Amino acid sequence: TAIKIAVIPGDGIGKEVMQEALKVLNCLQEQHSSLQIETTIFPWSSDYYVQHGCMMPNDALATLQTYDAILFGAIGDARVPDDVTVWELIMPIRKHFQQYVNFRPIKSLPGIASPLANGKEIDFVIFRENAEGEYSDSGGRLYQQQPQEMTIQNTIMTRIGIEKIVHAACDYAKQHGKTKITSATKSNAIIHSMKFWDEHTSKTVAQSSPALQLESIYIDALVAYFVERPQNFEVVVASNLFGDILSDLGSAIVGGLGLSPSANLNPEKDFPSMFEPVHGSAPDIAGKGIANPIAQIWSLALLLGHQGRPDLEQLIVKAITAVLQEGVVKTADIGGQATTAQMGDAICQEIINR
Ligand code: NAI
Ligand code: MG
Repeated sequence: TAIKIAVIPGDGIGKEVMQEALKVLNCLQEQHSSLQIETTIFPWSSDYYVQHGCMMPNDALATLQTYDAILFGAIGDARVPDDVTVWELIMPIRKHFQQYVNFRPIKSLPGIASPLANGKEIDFVIFRENAEGEYSDSGGRLYQQQPQEMTIQNTIMTRIGIEKIVHAACDYAKQHGKTKITSATKSNAIIHSMKFWDEHTSKTVAQSSPALQLESIYIDALVAYFVERPQNFEVVVASNLFGDILSDLGSAIVGGLGLSPSANLNPEKDFPSMFEPVHGSAPDIAGKGIANPIAQIWSLALLLGHQGRPDLEQLIVKAITAVLQEGVVKTADIGGQATTAQMGDAICQEIINR
């Protein structure tokens, strides 16, 4: 049966890089008759907001639920406040479909300058808790306009929430022959939530994968290690806030936003998962046709892997790697002059050659 993909290109370069991902998808379908895909494009974006007063229609989540996966571009536009675009489109999708794993591969690529690699390959993944933790709406303000004015912002961690993200990280480690899990913590200073995190992380690893080594590292030291010895990591598991920060740092140490994919996963596959580049709509270069489509195309690769086609995931990643290795077709962000479309064409050509 066909894989049903809901496509949301969004705003700015989101629309431009999505075109290249769809080009790659077409190319794959022509080469591999076993791949049956149905795509539907949804125009939910800032344009949509300007016309309708909302980022997506009332029945949008019900519509998306009938799909196997969501391929998302990027949103963000000067005409709509950023917290509206995020909280009316991305957040409802992540929360409603219980996409509690934010997965980001951090991998060095040929021909991409990384000041940190020292010739050694960087290749690890981050599992960020994506549904609870520090990003909660519990809290508020007291004594407004008075000298003792104050605010409280609560972190909410549940045993089940921690067990689920750590389980997902352990499952990945076992399936990919990894030996070590690194947990980001700060239990020396944040004595309630982070001690709870430590406790349930170590219990879960011990129960689910006793053969895996678990190291717990304070977040302040861990960011330094990301820079000093990024080759040492295999699978990093972190709370929502720590994982958010580590993910962008991870993307920077292997060459930047134009190359970095991500997945918002519901591992049980009760609901569709969502795949998107880490970057935003890049208003500074939108409309020029020069954005790097690799992050979006790699996000498509993650989608296919999650939908039971790891062969096609690897094929796309190999094609991307080969184009970078040749170093002829490169967009401006990685030191070249190619257009978005030329980069997409080069990756398709590599797929055809294989
Ligand atoms: P951004 O990721 O859009 O851009 C940051 C810098 O990286 C810019 O200089 C941009 O030109 C460059 N860049 C990003 N992606 C690139 C690509 N594929 N190829 C070449 N260069 C690329 O982040 P920024 O500027 O902080 O935010 C712009 C808008 O995007 C805002 O409205 C923000 O809210 C939104 N945003 C949306 C996200 C999403 O849809 N998930 C994530 C991050 C930001
Ligand atoms: Mg972030």
